[in-house]
Amino acid sequence: MTRIIDGNEIADGIRAELRASVETLRDAGVQPRLATVLMSDDGASETYVSMKQAACDELGIDGRHHEIDPDAPADELFERIDALNADPAVHGILVQLPLPDHVEKRRVLGRIDPTKDVDGFHPENVGRLVAGDARFKPCTPHGVQRILAAEGIETEGKDAVVVGRSDIVGKPMANLLVQYGDGGNATTTVCHSRTDDLKAKTRRADILVAAAGVPEMIDGDMIREGATVIDVGITRVDADTEKGYELVGDVDFESAKEKADAITPVPGGVGPLTIAMLMYNSVKATGIQSD
Ligand code: GUN
Repeated sequence: MTRIIDGNEIADGIRAELRASVETLRDAGVQPRLATVLMSDDGASETYVSMKQAACDELGIDGRHHEIDPDAPADELFERIDALNADPAVHGILVQLPLPDHVEKRRVLGRIDPTKDVDGFHPENVGRLVAGDARFKPCTPHGVQRILAAEGIETEGKDAVVVGRSDIVGKPMANLLVQYGDGGNATTTVCHSRTDDLKAKTRRADILVAAAGVPEMIDGDMIREGATVIDVGITRVDADTEKGYELVGDVDFESAKEKADAITPVPGGVGPLTIAMLMYNSVKATGIQSD
């Protein structure tokens, strides 16, 4: 029987641990504060940020939301980041991506104080991750590691294939899988839009992480019998539903589950872990709880 991995249940367990950490911090007179910054009127980004803020409320983390007009000059965002960097009451800063075209992502990510960079996207934090000394692991790949650990899926010596090479998921995911230690030691292949004969590569995977952002691009024929399939994709596709869309993963779930031993659904798989690991990083950003 194929195991359908329940991301909400795993995230619940992490939230319970975090609630205890937040209480310990409160007794020490510290409340983690996470500043989210949105410079976009994209509906999906607005939804993600409000889910992050709701998760803060639920755990007793002080979530403060900041909005910048998407048509404002980039300097307005830089000034806001500078102010948040300088405020000792702010422990974590998250600037929701994507940003408007006139705002250079690299300049923004490099401007955030790396000790407050709960996304783990600042070049110093990317470097530390690659060097095997992560300060903040990026939330989605960290969440995938936690799913594998919770499900007792060993990575050591396994063939892991990551489809997608984004800065947010694909690259850090591959880096975590290849690191020494728990949740790593996998023989890791990164595939992307220019990969030749993708199917030949994905069929070798014991652990397949689909993170290309292309709805249902991975079907059962591309999956090795008995593989673990982690679907990071989450695309809004127009549909005749109340909201006018549905969320579709990168994996064709119905055919994939015929081959996989364990598989994450969309929604309810990786998504809840992304938010739980953001809360984890926000608690860690106080500098009081060690990893
Ligand atoms: N946009 C999509 N995923 C993410 C994420 O993990 N962090 C930020 N800041 N923006 C995103």
